[in-house]
Amino acid sequence: MNKLGVNIDHVATVRQARQTDEPDPIWAAAEAELGGADGITFHLREDRRHINDRDAELLKQTVATKLNMEMAIDPEIVKIAVKLRPDQCTLVPEKRQELTTEGGLDVVRLRRRITPAVKKLKNAGIVVSAFIEPDAAQVTACAACGFDALELWTGAYAHAQNEREQAEALERLAAALEVGWDSGLVVHAGHGLTYRNIKPIAMLGGFSEYNIGHSIIARAVFVGLREAVREMKRLLDQALLRADVVDRFYPEADVDTHYPN
Ligand code: PXP
Repeated sequence: MNKLGVNIDHVATVRQARQTDEPDPIWAAAEAELGGADGITFHLREDRRHINDRDAELLKQTVATKLNMEMAIDPEIVKIAVKLRPDQCTLVPEKRQELTTEGGLDVVRLRRRITPAVKKLKNAGIVVSAFIEPDAAQVTACAACGFDALELWTGAYAHAQNEREQAEALERLAAALEVGWDSGLVVHAGHGLTYRNIKPIAMLGGFSEYNIGHSIIARAVFVGLREAVREMKRLLDQALLRADVVDRFYPEADVDTHYPN
């Protein structure tokens, strides 16, 4: 529970800014693991704007924890994933113009296209997850398509403008988490999570894995990646411990989980 997948795409983005060979995302993966990351996440985009095929190959060879490949439901990328065999593939929507993945995959609408891709990946022994918005219909569609897991888009929570909006977004996440569990799916969370907003969501306690990129890489500019990962891991562990104490000793308490101290 509360495992941390570190998304290293941003390291490749810096490299691509100069089209050179540094910083190397492969080094970043090793540093993140030395800092205590439970997994490494990368997105092989169709336009190869940051991570490229060489990176994917080397990550597969060198990552000692769990390797999670984010990808579109594109037949060419599915073929690459089947050959590469990462531990997990997370299917995401992908648009050329976007800065980063915006929102979740519409599994309800794309069910017919998604189901065969899920089957191919599962047949290759890969755990398959879907990145979706916290919506009950999307969650149950994931179960119907044969996904093993899902990752709830935490963007609305992360971009909330005030405490009320944040609390509402957290409630939606908690409700979708429960539907996921009831459907027999493993539930992850990701997008826009930071050192400042991680605690309330981590205190929900039901997410298996958090995939975090931008905030950790941004912090790493000042303290180094190993330390940045250590700090995030510490927050996740503290949240779990705090949730456990509340559960055990104050089960009826209406604990204010907003904004970590
Ligand atoms: N999870 C998924 C599916 C994503 O697409 C991304 C962004 O690449 C992340 C998590 C990480 O988001 P962030 O960089 O905002 O932490």
